[in-house]
Amino acid sequence: MTTVTLPEVTAGPDDLSVWPTSANRLPHGGLAVGGVCLAEIAERFDTPVYVLDEGEVRARCRTYRDAFPDAEVLYAAKAFLSRAMVRWIDEEGLGLDVCSAGELELAVTAGFPADRMVLHGNAKSPHDIEAALRLGVGRIVIDSPSEIARLAAAVGTGGSQKVMVRVVPGIMAGGHEKIRTGTDEQKFGLALSDGSAQHAVARILGRRQLELVGLHCHIGSQITDVKPYVAAVRRMVGLMARVRDTHGIVLPELDMGGGHGIGYHPGEPVLDLTALARRLRAELTVSCAAAKLPVPRLAIEPGRAIAGPAGVALYRVLAVKRTGERVFVAVDGGMSDNPRPALYGVRYAPRLVGRPSTAEPRTTTVVGRHCEAGDILAADVALPEDIHPGDLLAVPVAGAYHLSMASGYNMVGRPPVVAVHDGTARLLIRRETLADFRSRDIGD
Ligand code: LLP
Repeated sequence: MTTVTLPEVTAGPDDLSVWPTSANRLPHGGLAVGGVCLAEIAERFDTPVYVLDEGEVRARCRTYRDAFPDAEVLYAAKAFLSRAMVRWIDEEGLGLDVCSAGELELAVTAGFPADRMVLHGNAKSPHDIEAALRLGVGRIVIDSPSEIARLAAAVGTGGSQKVMVRVVPGIMAGGHEKIRTGTDEQKFGLALSDGSAQHAVARILGRRQLELVGLHCHIGSQITDVKPYVAAVRRMVGLMARVRDTHGIVLPELDMGGGHGIGYHPGEPVLDLTALARRLRAELTVSCAAAKLPVPRLAIEPGRAIAGPAGVALYRVLAVKRTGERVFVAVDGGMSDNPRPALYGVRYAPRLVGRPSTAEPRTTTVVGRHCEAGDILAADVALPEDIHPGDLLAVPVAGAYHLSMASGYNMVGRPPVVAVHDGTARLLIRRETLADFRSRDIGD
């Protein structure tokens, strides 16, 4: 068997490049985010805990608004959702991309206007569709042929629902095989290549209850290059032109999905948003002019790039062990609060916080507390060699797809979310407790 040795992830004490902009070194090894000392958060709220920097979330929303002034920016709620997050997104003028009745209802009950939401899903349940129609969701993105008749019937005679078609443009992009959605060999959308997308358009146009307002595509996630987006725009405009030629209809909207890549450790490539905005606009102008189409209203759906870098996960070290050549540092969380290293091989850069250390760095593997050898949070990272039980480790870029993908494995309970802003910390989501597990267990 050959073993592949990965290069060590090093994040020197001075490198805060993937941390929230507010991250600030304090005396004696302390670190503050949003003006609040992380060690104090650990004391007050216990560990593991997710810390979310409200200012960073808001600043990222504004960056999008500034980079895409004419586009509709829809935050992808699957990355992280809570009532406070809904309010921030609303106040910053973004829309919402939701993919279940759960996300939809939470957002509506937190006061978000349903007409600024788009509902996705490759397999929408009757409950999803019922909630979407009852609450008046802005657009529903059709993902399969069978959905067309089902949705039309649910809307009923006399009613009308705006819809889009999710198109698979045949473009390979995305940071990992499991999050590539632009090619035909995956479950989402209707392919351009075999005419499925065009066929769906024709069938939708034949239903009075469905108002087709545009096309949608989402080619993948954690994409760091603008080229696949540009290629996708070209193909989508090509389809819009064919729809116009076949049906005489000019579709007013084009939603290019999300997937904008961020850095999880220093030095990792990120998507250049300004370049993306410029190149998308340029390609839309050129392709539409060539096809003699008016430029459609652009929509984008970033999730990770808004929430991810605003979050930090804090853990307490429970055990340190040397086995053969490896040093394991075990913490009080793990794959139940962050399955991403196990699922996608993502490499995080934890750091010691809360006390100074002048010890030499050594190659360390940070593992969780779960009953599984694959429960690794960060393999081969440089951490001070004097790390010991009781120390605090902080993992940056923990704001997206952490809590939203957390599980109840080993009944450890999902961590709370604490928002930090202007020097104050407040609890947004409380810790899941044994009482929560017990209260759901109603049989005997
Ligand atoms: N729009 C649609 C239709 C999507 O399916 C997604 C993500 C997004 C927007 C937002 O993508 P983002 O900008 O956040 O990359 N669990 C994986 C990511 C799965 C993404 C699924 N869809 C992870 O932890 O990396």
